[in-house]
Amino acid sequence: MFERSVELYDLIYSDKDYEGEATWIRDAVRKRCPNARTLLDVACGTGRHLAALQISFASEGVDSSPEFVNLARERTGAPVHQGDMDCLDLGKQFDAVICMFSSIGYSTNLNDAIFSMARHLYPGGVLIVEPWFTADQWMTGSLQVLVREADGLRVIRMSSSSVEGSVSVMEMHHLVGTPSTIEHFVETHRMTLFSFDEYESAFRRAGLSYELAQPGPSGRGALIGQTPK
Ligand SMILES: C[S@@+](CC[C@H](N)C(=O)[O-])C[C@H]1O[C@@H](n2cnc3c(N)ncnc32)[C@H](O)[C@@H]1O
Repeated sequence: MFERSVELYDLIYSDKDYEGEATWIRDAVRKRCPNARTLLDVACGTGRHLAALQISFASEGVDSSPEFVNLARERTGAPVHQGDMDCLDLGKQFDAVICMFSSIGYSTNLNDAIFSMARHLYPGGVLIVEPWFTADQWMTGSLQVLVREADGLRVIRMSSSSVEGSVSVMEMHHLVGTPSTIEHFVETHRMTLFSFDEYESAFRRAGLSYELAQPGPSGRGALIGQTPK
């Protein structure tokens, strides 16, 4: 999972259009829940969606990593909780709950994760989940190379993809260079390749409606559910 790369996260994803995605999220929430005022971002990372959504909603975040929690708090000043999406219980409700950038793939129990998110919704509240790849979509044996540079820091990340049963595995080699040092470290990310049937079943079991919006905020699609009013 994310370990050493936490501090490089914003540089690695510096070309991601968080503002544009936040506009998509805001519109999707308002279309279904016009008076929505509050939002919870589950697996919020460094808080870039949160920062963009704070203008529209009183927003809070959750992440399992203390390092990401601190970065999101620093960026937004919003309440950001440490918690696991598979058993989250903040004891409060929101008008919208989101889980973006395919973070749902890190769940080890999809039904528990969707149930946990749904219980944080008021009646009529909206859940938006950006899915991870399905088994059919996942390509094993592919290599991805990413190069980023800022403020005298150079990062090269080369990732290889494989699969273990229904779990996609990405071995990510990082070279991080400054004028004085070059560091190499490896992180292994494991994300479950849930099917759309499994997503729909988890939404319905949690008492939510289910729709798949394409292309969604970033081209990965969006799973959208709503609790009964
Ligand atoms: C790909 S990042 C996405 C972060 C953010 N949503 C974004 O769009 O930049 C995945 C995030 O999921 C978090 N995460 C992984 N497993 C989690 C879990 N079980 N519960 C909560 N957060 C988790 C990681 O710490 C990381 O911040």
